[in-house]
Amino acid sequence: MTITTVDYDGLIPNNVALGQDERVKRALEKWHPGYINWWNDMGPEGFQEALVYLRTAVSVDPKGWAKFDYVKMPDYRWGVLLAPAQEGRKIPFGRHKGEPAWQEVPGEYRAMLRRLVVIQGDTEPASVEQQRYLGKTAPSLYDLRNLFQVNVEEGRHLWAMVYLLQKYFGTDGREEAEALLQRRSGDPDTPRMLGAFNEKTPDWLSFFMFTFFTDRDGKMQLEALAQSGFDPLSRTCRFMLTEEAHHMFVGETGVTRVIQATCEAMKKSGIDDPNNIEDVRKLGVIDLPTIQKKANLHFSLTLDLFGNEISTNAANAFHAGIKGRYREDRLKDDHQLEAAAYPVLRLVDGKIQNVDAPALSALNMRLRDDYVADCNVGVARWNKVIAEHGINFQIKLPSVAFHRHIGEFASINADVDGVILSDAEWAKRRADFLPSDGDKNFIESLMRPQFEPNKFASWIAPPKVGIDNKPGEFEYVKIA
Ligand SMILES: [Fe+2]
Ligand SMILES: [Fe+2]
Repeated sequence: MTITTVDYDGLIPNNVALGQDERVKRALEKWHPGYINWWNDMGPEGFQEALVYLRTAVSVDPKGWAKFDYVKMPDYRWGVLLAPAQEGRKIPFGRHKGEPAWQEVPGEYRAMLRRLVVIQGDTEPASVEQQRYLGKTAPSLYDLRNLFQVNVEEGRHLWAMVYLLQKYFGTDGREEAEALLQRRSGDPDTPRMLGAFNEKTPDWLSFFMFTFFTDRDGKMQLEALAQSGFDPLSRTCRFMLTEEAHHMFVGETGVTRVIQATCEAMKKSGIDDPNNIEDVRKLGVIDLPTIQKKANLHFSLTLDLFGNEISTNAANAFHAGIKGRYREDRLKDDHQLEAAAYPVLRLVDGKIQNVDAPALSALNMRLRDDYVADCNVGVARWNKVIAEHGINFQIKLPSVAFHRHIGEFASINADVDGVILSDAEWAKRRADFLPSDGDKNFIESLMRPQFEPNKFASWIAPPKVGIDNKPGEFEYVKIA
């Protein structure tokens, strides 16, 4: 077996030589039935018997690692897959910069590392739980398959984090691995750890926005952890990022196709005014202002995942060499930041202003800035579609001060341009910025399943190409 191929012989596919690691193998085999129970209880409802055309990793070579085939989701081979080790890898940042990367957990950073692994791990099953009812209203078999691909891979990401807990964190790692199967998204008594992962994903536009905005936070966090001096974490995250690319694709193209259907319908019926919401909705598509409001909601909820702008935890994790910056290895500075400054948007004397802060304390802010820039690349692609149809409208990301619950701006109300509003003004204008009950009801009225091959719901355009280059009429899901 080479380092990049995956051993599929045992119960748990892996490329970490699990066969030679009896203790961890047994621990994971013991955890496995609980995981399957969780999947059966909380995974996609109503489709556990369906045959889904899924990709499975057969190698961790960036080129050609996936194999496509029909599989029932509970039979999906969830495994432990790490990117290949880089010979002689050094810790790339922080006070240990230049020392050999750790192959075991350094005792002094054990608690910090465990916390980061658990927080990342908790988001993975949470999103499966949030999305479990969506299958019933899928706009096409193509979309249904993409949803399930995302779901099984989030399940695999849970495996990835649980492997680290079981292998490197002893008894408390085992307890954390159990707890990851106990918490439930949105449960008042045992919620998931982070706010955005306890919100509902009630419709498919929410799903596409979630994969665009919230999975992208996941990507940023994985990028930062992929830089870690703790090598097993780095290798784990590097492989997860190859899977995450598909989730980004689902979100970005999903929203693009919604916008496309709207623009095409408007053109066909001669409606030029994007704010003529009533007439646009009669066409069975989602009006652009409502798409904007959905983006406002998901963007603002996701920004909260980056935590406080000024954070000692973030500084400590960087200083320790545990969590780096976005693409640390491509940055040109001293990678220690002891004397560096970074501009942070703060609330000063009731005004939103840029203030220089020590760069180490401002690492959450920096990652969030990188995130916003990454989002804007996708938003520009959405706007290109609108412009191509000659419609005078642009999707715009709201101010980072808008609708926040964590950090500098949690205590104020700001509009989408960052203008501070009184409580009364906010209450009056809230529905201009965020989906109202009427908007939600309208979107829900469109959520009718379309399970015939090569057919799509009115509100979403077909994709440009099929998955695995399959033709349009391909039956991506065979519903039992
Ligand atoms: Fe994930
Ligand atoms: Fe994801």
